[in-house]
Amino acid sequence: DWTMEKFLEEQIAVIRRTVGEKGQVLAAVSGGVDSTVAAKLMKEAIGDRFWAVLVNNGVMRLNECEQVQKDLSEALGINLTVIDGSKEFLDGLKGIDDPEKKRKFIGGKFIDFFEAEAIKIEEAAAKRDPATAGKIGFFMQGTLYPDVIESLSFKGPSATIKTHHNVGGLPARMTNGQGLQLIEPLRSLYKDEVRALGRALGIREELVMRHPFPGPGIAVRILGEVTPEKVDIARKADHIFISEIRKAGLYDQISQAYAAVDPSRAVGVMGDKRVYGYIIVLRAVTTTDYMTAEAFNFPWEFLQRVMNRIVNEVHGVCRVVYDVTSKPPGTIELE
Ligand code: XMP
Repeated sequence: DWTMEKFLEEQIAVIRRTVGEKGQVLAAVSGGVDSTVAAKLMKEAIGDRFWAVLVNNGVMRLNECEQVQKDLSEALGINLTVIDGSKEFLDGLKGIDDPEKKRKFIGGKFIDFFEAEAIKIEEAAAKRDPATAGKIGFFMQGTLYPDVIESLSFKGPSATIKTHHNVGGLPARMTNGQGLQLIEPLRSLYKDEVRALGRALGIREELVMRHPFPGPGIAVRILGEVTPEKVDIARKADHIFISEIRKAGLYDQISQAYAAVDPSRAVGVMGDKRVYGYIIVLRAVTTTDYMTAEAFNFPWEFLQRVMNRIVNEVHGVCRVVYDVTSKPPGTIELE
């Protein structure tokens, strides 16, 4: 009979067979559940011959890059390189207000950074092990079973949904363009099985239960143009919202939650002065398949507490609203 421990052992054996004694494997990681579990699995199978790369695209959440680095590198022992692209990403986002253009820019820039790093990794690997000449032969991706199914039926509206996938063109570029062989150790698993595998691998509960987060990050949670000021506001508001959700013990009942910035100038009063500030849109949904979703039904006091903290602690905000739209007709992200 099937157990997670047996599956884990088998997968490690399969990876070792596929990669061989000397093979090197490259991957992009985000700190999300899938790439973290897949990376830890690779690390268990081939140790430091697995190379993970995290690109800081400037639109990650508050302290997220540092936290992911700690979790993957320090706690899980994964051979990780972090590249800070934040300045270049934020500079390039200037003046772009179309959501699909933001996605394209971030996806494209991501590939540029990743490819440049891949060359450096081959050099580092060659120095470390002259016998293999640093040849990277494989590219790993944390594809799940539902993603496999979705890409088989590549028609209709799902063609647009495809642009959603974290690093869009990357696998094709690495496997066709760079001649790497694709390894997808999670491709037979559903999300709950990936979480169980993560636990079997000793990954801490908070990481295993993380909500999904879009590849273009908070860039699609700021309506219109992304500026460092709005990123800062979105980060602080989101951090307050998510901390309060955790404190209230609601995190695991919610599928996805975030705070977004609507840069329309709303009026408010502070002391005896009129002030103008951005509108923070809170969104929290429950869903099983992310194709349909319902807004989460928070206690009123909870929303008031979050509103109070955000208007008091985040400079430049004077309204907080809660988005009650279901999907459809709304989507989970705001743009
Ligand atoms: P929507 O907004 O389409 O989101 O209801 C459904 C799921 O997809 C995620 N999402 C994205 N993920 N890149 C991603 O990697 C994207 O551009 C993107 N847009 C939406 C969203 O967070 C939700 O989980």
